[in-house]
Amino acid sequence: AEVVIVRDRAEAGALVADSIAALIRTRPDAVLGLATGSTPLPVYEALREKLAGVDLSQVRGFALDEYVGLPLEHHESYASVISREVVEPLGLDPQRIQTPPAHDDDLEGAGARYEAAIREAGGIDVQILGIGTDGHIGFNEPGSSFASRTRVKTLTAQTREDNARFFDSIDEVPRHCLTQGLGTILEAGHLVLLAFGEGKAEAVAGAVEGALSASLPGSAIQLHPHVTVVVDEAAASKLK
Ligand code: F6R
Repeated sequence: AEVVIVRDRAEAGALVADSIAALIRTRPDAVLGLATGSTPLPVYEALREKLAGVDLSQVRGFALDEYVGLPLEHHESYASVISREVVEPLGLDPQRIQTPPAHDDDLEGAGARYEAAIREAGGIDVQILGIGTDGHIGFNEPGSSFASRTRVKTLTAQTREDNARFFDSIDEVPRHCLTQGLGTILEAGHLVLLAFGEGKAEAVAGAVEGALSASLPGSAIQLHPHVTVVVDEAAASKLK
């Protein structure tokens, strides 16, 4: 992976937004892989400025994951987050932006349907990724197969604690999610993994230069030929 160390979140956001804006200029129907959580927010913020005046009517997007058991209208469902942080501020066509169908009655077939939708769009051009303190990407928690596809996963206690800050109490944090698999993520054209703060340093070091291991799902990025890792000094502090 190419590792870029930046001063702060704003610099990371500007850098990644520049490359996404360049992609959309050359390919107006680019397919974006959208992460949620706090990490990608500076990218989405910077995109508002960088994409001003660019025709976004053909841009497509697929979210990485969605909670299972949280109403779609809940302000922390990833459908709500993507709509609030990405679709509305950028003026994307909501019909062209999808989140994993975790609210379908047929949850069993939901993963395969999402995979089919990604395939029909021609695959994801650039996948934005954050990383969990337990090393997850998407919600592929430790133990996830490198060949995994979109499916229901159980969130670890660590992830539920980490994400409790978005909810009124930890009891409200869902226990399950529908997430793109590691195999799905590895099929995107370009992976851009961002991480900020000391709390991510160990996961970043494991993902970038640790042993390939299902115990640290982020290490799967080492199997991909085109990865950019954008980190601040603190998140880079455990890299050799
Ligand atoms: C979110 C996702 C997760 C987060 C990770 C880090 O769509 O797939 O892997 O990127 O949990 O979360 P934050 O950015 O909130 O620290």
